[in-house]
Amino acid sequence: MGKSATVIAASMLAADFGRFGQQVHDAAAAGCEWIHVDIMDGRYVPQISFGAAAVAAAKKGAATAIVDAHLMVEQPEDTLPAVIEAGADIITFHPESTRQAWRCAEMIRAAGRKAGVALTPAIELAAVRELAAAADLILVMTVEPGFGGQKMIKQMNAKIESCRRFIDEIGRPIRLQVDGGIGIDTIAAAASAGADTFAVGSSLFGCSDYAQQVRQLRKRADG
Ligand code: DX5
Ligand code: ZN
Repeated sequence: MGKSATVIAASMLAADFGRFGQQVHDAAAAGCEWIHVDIMDGRYVPQISFGAAAVAAAKKGAATAIVDAHLMVEQPEDTLPAVIEAGADIITFHPESTRQAWRCAEMIRAAGRKAGVALTPAIELAAVRELAAAADLILVMTVEPGFGGQKMIKQMNAKIESCRRFIDEIGRPIRLQVDGGIGIDTIAAAASAGADTFAVGSSLFGCSDYAQQVRQLRKRADG
């Protein structure tokens, strides 16, 4: 089956929150197909960031963008209804954050949205081997979740390769997303390892010309 077309997802955690809607619009106008919204609860990860309202604001900020909500919360089954209601197109959760991972995936898909399952650096592919049957995306975290601006953990490239082999083996149309420390210096290796979807926070919002940065990132990802 192989990789799907490259998608660049703007991670709003690195945006200027005071101009949230405008920044969503700018990222989409610069060529980001997806808007990545990190939802944190201060329990699964130390920080509190956005809630479901940010998903609704992102939908409003760019009519054409696909909003990709990344849930870093305990018991995502409690947060899911609000995130679905807010209009998220893709909703990704961490399987070990819930005792009901299958139910979470089914709640998302029953609402007509796409379900993603995320692996933190220490959680192995085995955690989603069966669950992948109910998923549309696997997210390999390339930093510990919780904060933007961290350095990519290079050892994760081997895990991306294993995930790519696994996805190709099962032959389902599952996107392979990477998140954390992805930028000009790290995107090519992640792409050759098999990733097709790239969340970029600080490497996008930290520069002055977003469109040029997205072009450069895409060029490197497409090799
Ligand atoms: C980290 C978040 C990421 C973060 C990435 O917990 O899931 O989406 O925003 O930020 P950068 O691209 O700056 O590493
Ligand atoms: Zn994220």
